[in-house]
Amino acid sequence: MKQKMLDKKVAITGASSGIGRATAIMMAREGADVAIIARRREKLESVAGEIRALGRKAVVLEADVTDAEGIKKAVEKAIEELGGLDVIYCNAGVYLRCPAKELTLDEIRRVTEVNYFGTLNTVYAALPYFTAKKCGSIVATCSMDGKKGVPPDGAYVGSKFAMNGFFQVLRQELKADGIHVGIICPARVDTDMITDVECPKITPKFSPDIVAKAVIKSVLKKKKEMLVPYFSCHLLTWADAVSPALGDWLVKVNKLGGIDRS
Ligand SMILES: NC(=O)c1ccc[n+]([C@@H]2O[C@H](COP(=O)([O-])OP(=O)(O)OC[C@H]3O[C@@H](n4cnc5c(N)ncnc54)[C@H](OP(=O)(O)O)[C@@H]3O)[C@@H](O)[C@H]2O)c1
Repeated sequence: MKQKMLDKKVAITGASSGIGRATAIMMAREGADVAIIARRREKLESVAGEIRALGRKAVVLEADVTDAEGIKKAVEKAIEELGGLDVIYCNAGVYLRCPAKELTLDEIRRVTEVNYFGTLNTVYAALPYFTAKKCGSIVATCSMDGKKGVPPDGAYVGSKFAMNGFFQVLRQELKADGIHVGIICPARVDTDMITDVECPKITPKFSPDIVAKAVIKSVLKKKKEMLVPYFSCHLLTWADAVSPALGDWLVKVNKLGGIDRS
C-alpha cells in the first residue's frame, strides 16, 4: 500500500506523549522520518524506539519550547540529521483549568509562554529554512478552545485564541512563498493533559490517532484549518458566530462536545 508521507522529513514538538506521540508514530508508519522534540528524554526515547521499529529514522531532541535559542538549535539539528525539513508541527502545550477570577497573572503568563510564545519560537526556528526553499508546511495544534471560549479555561483559551489569530495572518502572508500553514483545532482528546477532566458518555474524549490523521490530511491537502470532530465543532462555531449567547448555552449544556461544569 502506498505510504502517504514517504520520505517526508518532519519535526514535531510535544512528541513525548499524547497527540504529538501519536502523530510521530502515524507519520513514520506513512513513511516519514521524524525529529521528536520535548523535555522528557526517556519518553522521547520510547517514541523513537517505536518509530525505528517501523523502519524510519527518529531523531531525539530535548528542548523546552519557551527557550527560543534552545528550540532554534533543536530545529537546526533536526534539519541537519534528517537532511532537510518538509513539515514543522508545533504541538507542545500545557493546560490550566481555573476560573478567571482565581487566576494570577503569573499563571496566565506561564500558559501563554508555552502555548503561544513556545509555538512562535518553533515557527521562527523553521521559517528561515522554509522561506529560503519556498516550500514547507507549518502546522500547529490549536484547540476548539481557540475558537470558542469555554469556562473555566481562561488562561488556556487566551493562549489558543492568540495562536489562532497569528496563524490566520501567517497563512495569508506565507502563501506567496509557497509555504502551507495549517491549524488543527481538536475538542477533547484522551491524553495525559486532561486525565482529570471527565466527559459525559454522549461526548467522550476521542483518540489522539484521530488528531494525527487530521494533521497528515492538513499537510497533504494543504488544509488551512481542521476542526476535530468535524460536525459538532463546525456546528458550534457556526452557532457561536450567529449568536454568542447560543454558543455559550451550547458549551454549557454540553450538547456539542463541551464539558458540563455547572
Ligand atoms: N487533550 C486535549 O483535549 C486537547 C484538545 C485540544 C488541543 N490540545 C492541544 O494538543 C497539544 C498536545 O497536547 P496533548 O493533549 O497531547 O497533551 P500531553 O500528552 O500532555 O502532551 C503535551 C506535550 O507538550 C510537551 N510540552 C509541554 N510543555 C513543553 C515545553 N515547555 N517545552 C517542550 N515541550 C513541552 C510535553 O512534553 P514534555 O513534558 O516531555 O516536555 C508533551 O509532549 C497541546 O498543544 C494541547 O493544547 C489538546
